[in-house]
Amino acid sequence: MSSVSNRMILLLWWICFFCYNCDAFATGLPPKVFNVINYGARPGGFSDNSQLSNFFLKAWKDGCEYEGKSRILIPKGTYEMNSVTFAGPCKGAMSFLIKGTLLAPTNPALFLNYDTWIGFKYLDNLTVKGGGVLDGRGKSAWKYNNCGFKRNCYRLPTTLRLDFVHNSKIKYLRSVNSKIEHISVFGSTNLNISFLKLTTPNEGHNTDGIKIARSKNIWVSRSMIHTGDDCIALLSGSEEIGIKEVVCGPGHGISIGSIGRGHWKDPVRGVRVMNCTFLGTQNGARIKTWSPSEYVLVADVSFEDIKMENVNNPIFIDQDYCPFCGNRKIGSSQSQVEIRNVTFRNIRGTSSSKIAVNLQCSNVKPCQNVKFVNIDLAYEGPIGGPSLASCFNVYGVAYGKQVPSGCVV
Ligand SMILES: *[C@@H]1O[C@H](CO)[C@@H](O)[C@H](O)[C@H]1NC(C)=O
Ligand SMILES: *[C@@H]1O[C@H](CO)[C@@H](O)[C@H](O)[C@H]1NC(C)=O
Ligand SMILES: *[C@@H]1O[C@H](CO)[C@@H](O)[C@H](O)[C@H]1NC(C)=O
Ligand SMILES: *[C@@H]1O[C@H](CO)[C@@H](O)[C@H](O)[C@H]1NC(C)=O
Repeated sequence: MSSVSNRMILLLWWICFFCYNCDAFATGLPPKVFNVINYGARPGGFSDNSQLSNFFLKAWKDGCEYEGKSRILIPKGTYEMNSVTFAGPCKGAMSFLIKGTLLAPTNPALFLNYDTWIGFKYLDNLTVKGGGVLDGRGKSAWKYNNCGFKRNCYRLPTTLRLDFVHNSKIKYLRSVNSKIEHISVFGSTNLNISFLKLTTPNEGHNTDGIKIARSKNIWVSRSMIHTGDDCIALLSGSEEIGIKEVVCGPGHGISIGSIGRGHWKDPVRGVRVMNCTFLGTQNGARIKTWSPSEYVLVADVSFEDIKMENVNNPIFIDQDYCPFCGNRKIGSSQSQVEIRNVTFRNIRGTSSSKIAVNLQCSNVKPCQNVKFVNIDLAYEGPIGGPSLASCFNVYGVAYGKQVPSGCVV
């Protein structure tokens, strides 16, 4: 039953991808087209791939200076391209139509210590779409990804970086084999991100799907994300974030955090995750904070109408995150992150671990106003028996079905 509906979601996704990925519904005057081929670019490859980025940048510059709607067109074909950032402000709305496949560099000299492969910056009214593929060719880079263990580690380039981009849309694209995260959103407002398919094999560490920080009014919808790390990660300063009809898995699920470390003290507020499906992920709905930590507020968060299939930690608040700290006594978190007004509503499916609901809130800042409404998570695994809840320092209420029960009464 459930695998049928998952297939339905996939099918629907592809139908939408193909039928909307055209200009049939475009409104207003047609844009002026700046085809990168007319600037010297061609599919295949150049002996020096920085040439190609320069051709793309020239097309961008002309489009950006045109006082009307501009479209930068990358036609079908395969292009090997080095790191490049398309910056504004531009004189009119820009669209960036990627029909081809872009290949990231595999030579370490061209990617180590770059934080961006394809960047968009200081823009208003940008649309990036086209049905094309961004191939980060991560296999060449994952072995350098040792930041979890070392202080002096290499930075790897994000496939698509949006910094200070406003009133814009990213849709109908595929991103594969990112070196680190697929998409990073920072300092941006009013973005709609939809109809994306992001994939990286499990061996790619820190290959988050979409990472959002210091941004407001961001919608992510109708996308499929399977990666080696978080499906979507919301970091400090994420406000009014909507995530709707996203299928995650494999990977680490949708996570708020990690919160509370260093200078990152902006609150996370107004997060709605709805109608999402998690397939075989390590976590489902998660909030993760450092312990000890700085003071940060995380408030007004809801996870609603969520389906979990074979998820290891379906509902998880971990306020004791400290990967370098070794094993600590459970229930002793010293996190100063204040978590309040969190709702879990209509969460159903299966947990691959006995503890389907795991809320380890802080000893010094207990979780306040946590609401559970209709929770139905069965344990499915070798031990058998019912699923369990493990909760510390949680205040809240529960209504409707509660399987497992016992977190709040
Ligand atoms: C973006 O769109 C808004 C609303 O249509 C318009 O007021 C503004 O001038 C546009 N900005 C650019 C750079 O196109
Ligand atoms: C994003 O989508 C919402 C609702 O679907 C719409 O109201 C809003 O105008 C869209 N924003 C942009 C920048 O396209
Ligand atoms: C989410 O799914 C529920 C139940 O299937 C449905 O009632 C609701 O309208 C959906 N919400 C959205 C935003 O699609
Ligand atoms: C939490 O919810 C309560 C009532 O539901 C509201 O008064 C309060 O402002 C909310 N707090 C935050 C920080 O969102």
